[in-house]
Amino acid sequence: MRLRGSFAPPGDKSISHRVALLSLLARGGCEVRNYSTAEDCMTSVRSVKLLGGSVGFSGGKLKLVGSKGRLVDRADIDCQNSGTTMRLLMGILAGSKGPYVLTGDDSLMKRPMARIAKPLVEMGAQICWNEGGTPPVKVTGGDLVGIDYLMPVASAQLKSAILLAGLQADGVTRVTEQVKSRDHTELMLRQFGGDIFWEDGAWVVRKSDLELPEFFDVPGDPSSAAFLICAAAMLPGSDIVAERILLNVTRSKFLDKLTSMGAEIKVEPQGDYPEPWGAVRLVYSQRLSACEVTADELPQLIDEIPILALLATQSEGVSVFNQIGELRIKESDRVAALVSELGKMGARLEIKDDDLLIYGPTPLKPARDLQGFGDHRIAMTLAIACMVANTAINIEDIGCIAVSFPNFLTILGELRQ
Ligand code: S3P
Repeated sequence: MRLRGSFAPPGDKSISHRVALLSLLARGGCEVRNYSTAEDCMTSVRSVKLLGGSVGFSGGKLKLVGSKGRLVDRADIDCQNSGTTMRLLMGILAGSKGPYVLTGDDSLMKRPMARIAKPLVEMGAQICWNEGGTPPVKVTGGDLVGIDYLMPVASAQLKSAILLAGLQADGVTRVTEQVKSRDHTELMLRQFGGDIFWEDGAWVVRKSDLELPEFFDVPGDPSSAAFLICAAAMLPGSDIVAERILLNVTRSKFLDKLTSMGAEIKVEPQGDYPEPWGAVRLVYSQRLSACEVTADELPQLIDEIPILALLATQSEGVSVFNQIGELRIKESDRVAALVSELGKMGARLEIKDDDLLIYGPTPLKPARDLQGFGDHRIAMTLAIACMVANTAINIEDIGCIAVSFPNFLTILGELRQ
């Protein structure tokens, strides 16, 4: 089995969320091309509507009219599986009246929100959350004041929430990261006219108005493309091209990692707006060698770890993923899921303290009752694992893939030979 041909993944999930949610604070009208219609991004669209925003699809494009911060007084919002929707909304709603109650599905109701709420409370919002730091989250906005915030953990969602509150706060908000996470919020705020700049190693933001651009094109999602690119690196005879994918360096580190493992990758930059994008070709070349992911690299590879872990099972040597505790609090405990499900297929994974060690190469064998734990990235990893094992894709909750990549199986079918 091999993959051949070209494909375009859905619009980038992180950028799609942000352009929709920022319309709550901005003025002007915008036509968004290639907005992701994955379930998570549609949750953000629904949230914008519930908060009084004007948003809808027409001719395949998302039309947004900015709310200029004038939101409905109160709302109950089900953020479903989407951590990005809930966490970015917390920053936006911190400056509005409320109360706003944010809930989610079983997975989201278990995820940490206190880490976002605490700095927002420090800025002047009233926020209640559940014992254990989880949702429901009740936000009653206040008069915000800027803070000087040193990020205790590398998280783009946390950083974004503070910056979005900072945009509505008196005084100056400074956010310092010890390790850099994806920077779409900073870039988009700047593009939309926000008073935000980089100074002495921190992002500095002041109260300011945003204006939506007339047109906005969302580049393809590299984190979705990664599943197919990595699959091609494991299936002899493959040759695939991912078209129009986002090449922001805070998101493309998995390509560097693949190259360091011995994969043959060619990147062709094709554009710069709203962020760098282009085509990525992978030609199957050879058996790969093991990789090491350091704690500092992790934030820029965070969503690609499950598929890189599968790749490591097919690579020569011991791969080490250092300090990957953050992966335990994603849509599922991804460390436990990888160890149990890839283990069922004969892979050798071991947890040592907070590190994941993978011994390769091991041939993968078919397994019954593979589970995605309701987590789209685990389900897609297992689907590719089934292909590597040369067996039919049989995963209990495969439908959860629609959270980020609804046409994943269709594209896989088209590329497969
Ligand atoms: C995201 C940030 C990351 C990532 C998630 C999307 C974003 O989460 O895992 O899929 O759009 O800001 P963390 O901020 O929790 O690391």
